Amino acid sequence: MLSQVFRLLSLASLSSALPSTPPLLGPRQSSTTITIDLTKTYNLISGFGTSEAFQRAVQMSRLPATEQRRALDLLFSTTTGAGFSILRNGIGSSPDQSSDHMVSIAPRSPGSPDKPLIYDFEKTGEDNKQLWVSREAQHTYGVKTIYADAWSAPGYMKTNGNDANGGTLCGVPGASSCKSGDWRQAYANYLVRYVQFYQEANVTITHLGFINEPELTTSYASMRFTASQAADFIKILHPTLLRAVSSSLLTSAPGIACCDAEGWSTTSSMLSTLKSSSAESLLSIITSHAYTSSPSSPLNTRLPTWQTEAADLQGAWTNAWYSSTGTGNRAGEGWTWANNVYTALVNANASAYLYWIGAQSGNTNSHLVHISSSGKVEASKRMWAMGMWSRFVRPGARRVGTSTSGGSSLPSGVKIASFRNEDGSVATVVLNGSGSAVKLGVKVGAGGDGKGYGSVKAWVTDNTREIAMVETGFDEAKGEGSVSVPSRAMVTVVLYPAEGSGQK
Ligand SMILES: *[C@@H]1O[C@H](CO)[C@@H](O)[C@H](O)[C@H]1NC(C)=O
Ligand SMILES: *[C@@H]1O[C@H](CO)[C@@H](O)[C@H](O)[C@H]1NC(C)=O
Ligand SMILES: *[C@@H]1O[C@H](CO)[C@@H](O)[C@H](O)[C@H]1NC(C)=O
Repeated sequence: MLSQVFRLLSLASLSSALPSTPPLLGPRQSSTTITIDLTKTYNLISGFGTSEAFQRAVQMSRLPATEQRRALDLLFSTTTGAGFSILRNGIGSSPDQSSDHMVSIAPRSPGSPDKPLIYDFEKTGEDNKQLWVSREAQHTYGVKTIYADAWSAPGYMKTNGNDANGGTLCGVPGASSCKSGDWRQAYANYLVRYVQFYQEANVTITHLGFINEPELTTSYASMRFTASQAADFIKILHPTLLRAVSSSLLTSAPGIACCDAEGWSTTSSMLSTLKSSSAESLLSIITSHAYTSSPSSPLNTRLPTWQTEAADLQGAWTNAWYSSTGTGNRAGEGWTWANNVYTALVNANASAYLYWIGAQSGNTNSHLVHISSSGKVEASKRMWAMGMWSRFVRPGARRVGTSTSGGSSLPSGVKIASFRNEDGSVATVVLNGSGSAVKLGVKVGAGGDGKGYGSVKAWVTDNTREIAMVETGFDEAKGEGSVSVPSRAMVTVVLYPAEGSGQK
């Protein structure tokens, strides 16, 4: 009884701190109760993230100090931003830094693959400023996962002598022969040296990729690889990484990622070749983009699968969440991305979801945070939508099972996904796509003892709010939190273990 009084008092003080929140909803008003089953476990969550490749990091670095900090906070802060937990870097291959080229760490050919590569990290401008962003991410914000991915090998290692316009790595099976010889081992050494440069700067690269959209030839850095060519190279890269560790060049080996194909279906077919070529077991993660086909069903692998690049590449910059007067093009809206992440995690068993670019200038939706011509940063609702996942579903979380009370189904248009974090908290993301508000109760059933969860908090993002804390009810006897989810809103509800409950 005493504790019930305390609850009401603490809610009263919360509502005075948040004057614009909707009226309090007691647990008895819940129309549907979600019961979380911690014994049913699905995908492991590696995290959520973005990239500052292609000199977008350089753009960030040129902002005035306060806006620079604001951009970094928006991307990586778990209290005032999206709380991203993964950063994807581009490993440069270009001979120069003109336009948005990512300059290589070894831009000039040593003449032959048998000669040592001529590294010049000093002249990369801190790896096109990505080292600066990485250092901020890792040291200031505690981001543990940095995925470095190469779009191409330097031109001198390739069949077309250019880091752009396709071509492939000299020496892979089926490639046209190169006068200069077989550059496979040199390319593996090159990738290891990149990781080592970061290590020397106290930044740990945890995952390493050697191709990007390998089925595409473009006017920028691009390199063609078939799945069997990828398998061939993985068998060179993997032992090279192990040797780098045993010879103390690297303190630990990053996990190898493959293949960042343009779409989930292409990745699916590449994966079957990686399996049949015995290369899958040398990988840590399977990576895929979402352009030509988006993640809709699980890939056939026990490895974590990451959606590493998605964006609205067509639309002009919008920071809309869901415009009721919208003309039908919702590709850039926050609500769309809230749902895209849901589909990847729940329907396609993805472990990570990355938007293409974090902060950038230009009137497009290819980025999450807009840098205006006057040097101000502005976040999109796409970013806040991703933050609703990223801030509360932390690396190492597991998606867990849910059921609705009495076997009834969820209200129509409502989607939910629950995750148990490593610290014992249980986050439930609710998307209310119905035309009217939904009231939900959330409690832990199997795997919790019904009393193990002692408090609840919830946050909302919708047309007017961005990860704003909302009022909740909590029924101590049932360990059940309750919250109202407005129409077209996203609410993340987190249940916290009671002190001394052993729910960890
Ligand atoms: C889902 O992903 C996990 C890794 O996060 C994997 O171990 C599991 O096998 C996958 N399940 C399905 C059905 O693909
Ligand atoms: C990396 O850390 C070591 C040990 O803390 C320190 O001596 C060194 O100066 C750091 N290097 C850089 C580039 O920050
Ligand atoms: C979803 O929104 C509608 C409309 O505002 C509302 O009636 C319904 O209760 C909401 N659903 C949940 C689960 O909160």
